Amino acid sequence: MKKIIDKKNIVLGVSGGIAAYKSAEFLRLLVTNGANARVIMTQNAKWFVGPVTFEALSGQKVCTSLFEEEGDASIKHIDWAGEADAVVIAPATANIIGKFAHGIADDALSTFILAVTCPVLVCPSMNTHMFESRSVQRNLDQLKTDGYFIIDPESGELACGTIGPGRLPEPEDILDRLMYALYPNDLTGKRILVTAGPTCEHFDPVRFISNPSSGKMGFAVAKAAEHRGGTVSLVTGPTNLADPNRVSVIRVRTAQEMADEVFERMDTADIIVKTAAVSDYKPKDQVEYKVKKDEKEHAMLLEKNLDILKEIGKRKKQQILVGFAAETENLAENAANKLAEKRLDLIVGNLIGEPASGFGTDTNTVTLFFKDGTKESLPTMHKDDVAHVLLDRIIKM
Ligand code: CTP
Repeated sequence: MKKIIDKKNIVLGVSGGIAAYKSAEFLRLLVTNGANARVIMTQNAKWFVGPVTFEALSGQKVCTSLFEEEGDASIKHIDWAGEADAVVIAPATANIIGKFAHGIADDALSTFILAVTCPVLVCPSMNTHMFESRSVQRNLDQLKTDGYFIIDPESGELACGTIGPGRLPEPEDILDRLMYALYPNDLTGKRILVTAGPTCEHFDPVRFISNPSSGKMGFAVAKAAEHRGGTVSLVTGPTNLADPNRVSVIRVRTAQEMADEVFERMDTADIIVKTAAVSDYKPKDQVEYKVKKDEKEHAMLLEKNLDILKEIGKRKKQQILVGFAAETENLAENAANKLAEKRLDLIVGNLIGEPASGFGTDTNTVTLFFKDGTKESLPTMHKDDVAHVLLDRIIKM
């Protein structure tokens, strides 16, 4: 769920590069996320993808010319510029980048861009040598100075056979940067340390004690904090989730490894959010060979892991410290106890075992318990949205 995109007026500018086919996919993503998306194409873009494709996907007329062709008196490039919440130029060719950098307005897209006052994301996509040429780099520097968001192209084998930077990023990644551009940057200059996922405590090389935490909540907090301008480090136990964009991800396995990485980073953090489901115990004995089965019963001795959050609570100076409490019963009482015992500013309590809440789900139903004794119950929401509400409350502190 990408709520920030919902009902936003997004203008997609398509210029004439082979990656124009990917813009059709990006447009679909915009529309499925609720955007009111409109397309302006250059004449050269029409060689790669027909306007009908974009019209079918957006449900709106595509603008391809400075001059209205169907008798409609509205000057689209001015109207659309005024209404837009964000503009994405994908792909952006060397030619359109050059025009933007120099204020040349000789077609619908380059004229429109001069009238735009909202954030503009430019996704350069071209042959590697063209991209690395001094003039394109100079023009991109100019666009950065002028306040455009430049999304670096990906490296790989390009349609022309060259290997190097120049490929248009995947639609999901462009959407991610669009979200960054749309969210308020209210965490700029702040360092946020997040933990996520389960830990695995081995008793032999192939077996361990763990829990079903998927890491989704912690990854959502890390991503949301980055979208709001924060510098984010994410220490995570094993998960199947991909690294969020521009988040420094440190992958660990055991509680001890998580503790080491967290303690190393906690002094420079302004905000620490511990969503990780840390294993409270680990097998006392760990052997280096695979334990063989036999006919006997086996007992395993467990020893306690360090409570990482409690230790941070003892050591913390100015940081805002947020914990999570996963409970099967007595949520308020248990959460309040953990808040006090671990010296937290806020604890997010959730009852696990409910269908729309807890381990592995995309949604969560949580109650926030604050240090001053107040609490706030949130409706069931996507974990991305829970993360943003949580950050709203943290920022208020
Ligand atoms: N936590 C931690 N280190 C541990 C155990 C828990 O840092 N060894 C943190 C979790 O990341 C979470 C909070 O403490 O933010 C609460 O975790 P939870 O598992 O709900 O509670 P516990 O303190 O482990 O207590 P119990 O298991 O008895 O409910």
